[in-house]
Amino acid sequence: MCGIVAYVGGRTAYPILIKGLQRLEYRGYDSAGIALLNGETHVYKCKGKVKDLEMLSKDQDISGTIGMGHTRWATHGEPNDVNAHPHQSMNGKFFVVHNGIIENYSHLRKELKSRGYQFKSETDTEVLANLIENIYLEQKVTAELAVRLALTRVVGAYGLVITCEDEPGQLIAARKGSPLVVGVGDNEYFLASDATPIVEYTDQVIYLNDEEVAVIRQDSLELKNLGNDSKTPDIKKISLSIDHIDKGDYEHFMLKEIHEQPVTIQDTFRGRISMDESKIFLGGILDVMPQLIKARRIIIVACGTSWHAGLVGEYLFEQYARIPVEVEYASEFRYRDPILEKDDLVIAISQSGETADTLAAIRKVRETDATILGICNVAGSSISRETDAGVYTHAGIEIGVASTKAFTSQITVLTMMALLLGSKRQALSASEYKHLIKELIQVPKKIEEILKEEHKIAEIAAVYKDVSNALYMGRGLLFPVALEGALKLKEISYIHAEGYPAAEMKHGPIALIDENMPVLALAANDESYEKMVSNIQEVKARKGKVIAVVTKGDKIIRKMADHIIEIPDCHEAVSPLLAVIPLQILSYHIALMRGCNVDQPRNLAKSVTVE
Ligand code: AGP
Repeated sequence: MCGIVAYVGGRTAYPILIKGLQRLEYRGYDSAGIALLNGETHVYKCKGKVKDLEMLSKDQDISGTIGMGHTRWATHGEPNDVNAHPHQSMNGKFFVVHNGIIENYSHLRKELKSRGYQFKSETDTEVLANLIENIYLEQKVTAELAVRLALTRVVGAYGLVITCEDEPGQLIAARKGSPLVVGVGDNEYFLASDATPIVEYTDQVIYLNDEEVAVIRQDSLELKNLGNDSKTPDIKKISLSIDHIDKGDYEHFMLKEIHEQPVTIQDTFRGRISMDESKIFLGGILDVMPQLIKARRIIIVACGTSWHAGLVGEYLFEQYARIPVEVEYASEFRYRDPILEKDDLVIAISQSGETADTLAAIRKVRETDATILGICNVAGSSISRETDAGVYTHAGIEIGVASTKAFTSQITVLTMMALLLGSKRQALSASEYKHLIKELIQVPKKIEEILKEEHKIAEIAAVYKDVSNALYMGRGLLFPVALEGALKLKEISYIHAEGYPAAEMKHGPIALIDENMPVLALAANDESYEKMVSNIQEVKARKGKVIAVVTKGDKIIRKMADHIIEIPDCHEAVSPLLAVIPLQILSYHIALMRGCNVDQPRNLAKSVTVE
């Protein structure tokens, strides 16, 4: 959701805050603002991107070695200058930047209004600033205590940085639900919603836990909980580097991340697959392997693209490990009061590791005896810290809001887990196990072959860039890939697109087909090939335009489809990893040709940390 950054130290804060906000902009880009403390507090904020904020502030007084910044994904109040953060309390004592949602803000607002408070904005954050100030002035307590007392009255999620005019040189930070990381420097501290703004300065970080409050000065950091119990900071070393968050020669992070997949998939199975011994070794789930092997059923919870990866996992676990699987939207699962038994195993999949609904689903499972694993891409993220065990995808930081390399790395982890479990449960013979590992190892090379054909896919994109609808269809393991392809197109080109199991078309969606409807048909060389040929004939019979993803050398569909995109031949088990690549590239080029902001599509954010 929003991105927060702050600094206290000996350096000039302004450039650190601006660069930090640029790094966090993928979290939300509706408005941006900073507060700089240098005797008095200067606030600069406006609707739009960080570059608009730079234009606004660069000729102003931007001095000061302490400050905070915010880039917004609007929840309460439309994107405009007044609703932009930081928010100042009515009597000017407190300044606040906030990532999250104060659910009981309207109740608190009414109460404060009855005490004479007026509000400039529609935001929940301004309510919090006034609540803190009201407690501070009425109860004559320190700023830190006023913050803790106010937060005991708050319902919802927050990552916060707060300053008080009466206590200069100090930042107060607090977290519940929304992520907040402290970077520990030499006589200086950095704060941010994730590590990307911090890695340039230090690799020593503290991940704040829920209901923790940090009082930070240039030369000190005090950590406690809302109940005033002191906490010992748990300093971790992070292995993220600047190169990971640089576009390099690519025009967009999404394109860079699409082209990184041969490497990121190798990184996902590096040190986890030994070809010599035909073995898969997943250290992160070793401790819970007994639960995995005797699991009665697997329940996968996730959102968005991660949910699509979960659907691929369902097919893989059922096919190769013979365990029944259910895939749940985390947002529905958490409120449905699901029935969970001791021998159930839950897998939460999340790129960011911070998605609020998935986190809440995990906490729901925590109320039962079921075991919960995580598949995450961000080390130290909340989901990785709140699950019993798990596997990191090692796809490297993903900055493009439309997930690409994280998706293929999630599927690679799920494939390794399904094959390992299949072997452990003797559902897979040693020769099948060995053969499928070999197939998986060959995927990066085959993806390189597909990437070399990008120009041909761009030519197809040029034909369909002006359509207003599109349909995607696939069978078996390629059905979830059809859903993912449709999501990619929706997310970045704003074309309405739907994915369906190909056989489902006849039960309604086929009514949408005419000469203006492009249909992406995923017809790799597997058991359902003949069926896909019939489904394509049904579309062609209604004059639909067919773009078919087929196996290299396909002879039949080539004659029927309007356009074909070839992928190298492969075993069905790994076909999702290949078939999704052309769909990522196609949506990228269509969005580019429509002049859309590919890396920061409208209304979206990279990590959805609120409900
Ligand atoms: C995918 O392109 C989207 N960014 C979105 O659907 C995303 O997959 C979803 O928000 C889940 O995020 P997570 O994997 O970080 O939990």
